[in-house]
Amino acid sequence: MIAFGGAAGKVSRSNDARQTDMDLFDALRLRRTVREYSDAPLTAEVVRQVIWAAQGATGQEGGRTAPSAHALYPLRLRLAVRAVAGVETGIYDPCADPWQKLATGDHGPALEAAAIGPQPWLANAAAILTVCVDMMAAATHFADQPPYGERGLRYGWIEAGAAAQNALLAATATGLGAALIAGFHDEATVAAIQLPPPLVPACHICLGHLPA
Ligand SMILES: Cc1cc2nc3c(=O)[nH]c(=O)nc-3n(C[C@H](O)[C@H](O)[C@H](O)COP(=O)(O)O)c2cc1C
Repeated sequence: MIAFGGAAGKVSRSNDARQTDMDLFDALRLRRTVREYSDAPLTAEVVRQVIWAAQGATGQEGGRTAPSAHALYPLRLRLAVRAVAGVETGIYDPCADPWQKLATGDHGPALEAAAIGPQPWLANAAAILTVCVDMMAAATHFADQPPYGERGLRYGWIEAGAAAQNALLAATATGLGAALIAGFHDEATVAAIQLPPPLVPACHICLGHLPA
């Protein structure tokens, strides 16, 4: 697991990716769904902070910013880059260090086309973070716990929600506009970001600068 903002293997609370003085409770108060963004590109640094908030390593023993049942950590992230300074457009695995490029091109329009109803913010955001779940791993791991076959799935969705809220609060604390989007057609979304099975998209976090 990559230690976002810190040297791998030397993760501590003192070298995390946090670079904001906003109090957690202020971030909670200020968080709102923002669906309009300026055209200004994001810095890779601020995107990295949001990624770190979602799934960053916070301990030597594999701990992360979001909790995980049985410390299974079934979440995977994808980042569709549209306008991030110094980063080519494309789909990335932002948990790799450096980010691993998986596909080239602007995937905003395909993500918007995969949405339920018109959602132009998916095509206008500077970056779209997709929280994905390895549902096979989750279902298999908790297969012996009732409700059999369903507990792992339930945990997968819960964990995705926790990571997404972390990302939203980080976006708020760093002054970005952000929106959690879960109204999308699953198969079209999988195709849009070329997600390999058994990963399932749980939600997107659209990111961009607030409109001027
Ligand atoms: C599970 C979930 C799914 C959502 N899906 C969408 C969506 O598909 N499109 C959208 O524009 N907003 C979506 N939202 C954002 C909500 O519309 C928003 O949180 C709600 O209007 C309350 O506003 P607030 O976030 O500013 O407090 C979703 C929120 C949640 C929690």
